Amino acid sequence: PEFLRPDGETAHRHRDEYVRHCGKNAERRERGQAVIYFDHAATTLQKPPVVGQAMLAALQTAGNPGRGAHEPTLHAARIVYDTRTALAELFHAEDPACIAFAANATQALNTAIGGLLSPGDHVIATVCEHNSVLRPLYRLREQGVQLSFVGVDDRAILRYEQFEQLVRPNTRAIVVTGASNVTGHATDLPFVAQVAKKHGLLLLVDAAQTAGSLPIDVQALGIDVLCFTGHKGLMGPQGTGGLYVRPGLRVAPLVVGGSGVHSFAEAHPAEMPTALEAGTLNAPGLAGLGAGVRWLLEQGVEALHTREMALTRSFWEGVREIPGVVLYGTLAAPRAPIVSLNLAGEDSARVADALWEEYGICVRAGAHCAPQMHRALGTVEQGVVRFSFSHQNTEAEVQCAVKAVRALALEE
Ligand code: ALA
Repeated sequence: PEFLRPDGETAHRHRDEYVRHCGKNAERRERGQAVIYFDHAATTLQKPPVVGQAMLAALQTAGNPGRGAHEPTLHAARIVYDTRTALAELFHAEDPACIAFAANATQALNTAIGGLLSPGDHVIATVCEHNSVLRPLYRLREQGVQLSFVGVDDRAILRYEQFEQLVRPNTRAIVVTGASNVTGHATDLPFVAQVAKKHGLLLLVDAAQTAGSLPIDVQALGIDVLCFTGHKGLMGPQGTGGLYVRPGLRVAPLVVGGSGVHSFAEAHPAEMPTALEAGTLNAPGLAGLGAGVRWLLEQGVEALHTREMALTRSFWEGVREIPGVVLYGTLAAPRAPIVSLNLAGEDSARVADALWEEYGICVRAGAHCAPQMHRALGTVEQGVVRFSFSHQNTEAEVQCAVKAVRALALEE
């Protein structure tokens, strides 16, 4: 359309400029140079080298953690305990035993939601939630759990006044994401925690987008359960994750089975963390996760977040004036390093494909497993093109993405 082509601006000119500054995609690939990766909200790609080293060492030396007294099994148990300790330090948990491991945030959320709610309970969630929260809740609704959702305003910011308005006599919990995986807006957890405390509600937080990316203090915030994945901000491998459970809170396990202790008891042990860990743990994965978390603790989450926010702001400022670019949410809100946009009415998947095919830039398009957020944004059909940044990205990469978006916006 004409409005995408101001005088003198052509897609061709901007594509040339991209190649001058960023190199030809095909040549970059031939040289084996890394792709420009802006899909860290899906998974972080380049982990600190210590992560892979720890995994390989564990693969070659770790027995089954907690299943005996010989050196390989003790060594594995120590690896697992060290990772618990590192996570307890990162999240300011009372004790390493508050951390139980799971395969990912989805499994942790299923455990927490299914293990705390019963028919007749009412739960408050938000339209920002991912399907890893929504689907376990919808399934419980079939069994008599009642649900209410806090909405967002026209800037896609949560309508915080609704949390208290939605409280009912049978409300048992608030389940909320730490940050939307679509807009990047971070939830005001101190505010939500204060509502939960005032009404005696459990506070469950989905930290898939915030663990390792934003500082989290579960005790200061009064969080009852924090569910996290290992492979995003925590810099660990896929297949790792878990949940923090406040001491004294009993979460019924999703899975029961072998635990290495009390073998003659018919019931799975109730003590944390064994209560929520049945079967052999992923020792090599947890070795990697522990190395990732220790690396984060050395670097400092705040310092890394500052770098990520500088890149996020730079990208936002770089693309906001490009004709046809529609940005979602607001830069003014506290946020995770995520920016979602569309190019006029163009399908988000086509834009993401072009970014990859023509410019070697990795982003995620579509609905991001967050259906209610897309309904609120009016992007059910189009989806959005999501750029998610990491402290491992550079300003030069961000400028390449800005050039690529500009060139694509000028195409017919
Ligand atoms: N939930 C992840 C994302 O938002 C996979 O991309």
